[in-house]
Amino acid sequence: MVKVNTLFLLAFISLMYINSYLNELIPSFENRIVGGLPSSIKDFPWQVSLQMRGLHFCGGSIISNLHILTAAHCLHLVKNVESPIEVRIGSRKLHKGGKLYNSSYVMVHPLYNPKSTNFDVGIIKLNKPIKQGNTSRAIQIVDENKSFPTNTIAYISGWGHKKENGEIQDKLRSSRVKIIDYTLCKKYFKPGEISENMLCAGNPTGETDSCQGDSGGPLVIQNKLVGVVSWGIGCGRPYRPAVYANLANLRQFIDEAIRIKY
Ligand SMILES: *[C@@H]1O[C@H](CO)[C@@H](O)[C@H](O)[C@H]1NC(C)=O
Ligand SMILES: *[C@@H]1O[C@H](CO)[C@@H](O)[C@H](O)[C@H]1NC(C)=O
Ligand SMILES: *[C@@H]1O[C@H](CO)[C@@H](O)[C@H](O)[C@H]1NC(C)=O
Repeated sequence: MVKVNTLFLLAFISLMYINSYLNELIPSFENRIVGGLPSSIKDFPWQVSLQMRGLHFCGGSIISNLHILTAAHCLHLVKNVESPIEVRIGSRKLHKGGKLYNSSYVMVHPLYNPKSTNFDVGIIKLNKPIKQGNTSRAIQIVDENKSFPTNTIAYISGWGHKKENGEIQDKLRSSRVKIIDYTLCKKYFKPGEISENMLCAGNPTGETDSCQGDSGGPLVIQNKLVGVVSWGIGCGRPYRPAVYANLANLRQFIDEAIRIKY
C-alpha cells in the first residue's frame, strides 16, 4: 500500500464514488513516523497536512509562497473529488492552529505510474499566497542530480501511524533515518522495483521509519528537501527501507510546474 491514510480515504471516497479506481488505492505496497518524537512546527515549518472534509490524508511541503509539493499518489487518490484539497499550514496539530488554504489546482508528474509508483511527485497551487514566518516557510529543493552516500542522516516528519496498523497522530512527529544508496537499495527489493526517481532511507534494524498518513511528506537533509514519502512494505520492519521520490532527479518537473502561470 502507498503511504496514505488508506482507511480514511477508502471510507471517504466510497461514500461518493463507486469503486472504479478503488483498486488502484490498494497496490502491493504498505504505507509508513515510526519511532519518532513529538515535534514543533518551528523545526519543520515547511510541513503541511492535506485534508478533505477535515480528514488528514497526506503530508506535503511548502516550496514557494503558492506551491505545495506532495506525492503524485496522494493527488491521484482525490482526483475525482470536486471539492478543493484543504491545506493546513503552520500548525503541529491536525485540526487547529495555523491557517487553512484551499487548492486552486493540482499538477501530477506526467509520467507518474500508479502501478510502479514511479515519478511519484505532484504539486498543489494554493488559492492565495502563504504569509511566511517562523511556523510556515518554504524549503529549498535539493540540487539537480545530487546524490548522497549511504548513512547520510535525513529527517522525516508527519502525522502518520506510529506503527504498522496504527492510527493517525493528532500532533506532528519526526524521526531520523539514514540514506541507503541506489545500488544498495535495489538489493532490498525485487528487480525493477526501484528506479532512479526513487530514493531509499531507513535503519537496518527498522526502528525509525515513515508510515501510513506520512505519504507526500518531506525527507530533509541539511534543510534541503531531497525526498517525498512514497511507499514501502510495512513500516519499521528490519531490512525494509522506505522509498521516497528522489527530487534530485525530478527537479525539471517541479521547476516547470512552479513557473507555469494559471
Ligand atoms: C475552501 O473552499 C470551501 C468550499 O469550496 C469554502 O467553503 C472554504 O471557505 C474555502 N476555505 C478557504 C480557506 O479558502
Ligand atoms: C521568529 O524566530 C526568531 C528567532 O527565534 C525570533 O527572534 C522572532 O521574534 C520570531 N518571529 C516571530 C514573528 O515570532
Ligand atoms: C543532470 O543529469 C542529466 C542527465 O544526465 C543532464 O542532462 C543534466 O544536464 C544534469 N543536470 C545538472 C544540473 O548537472
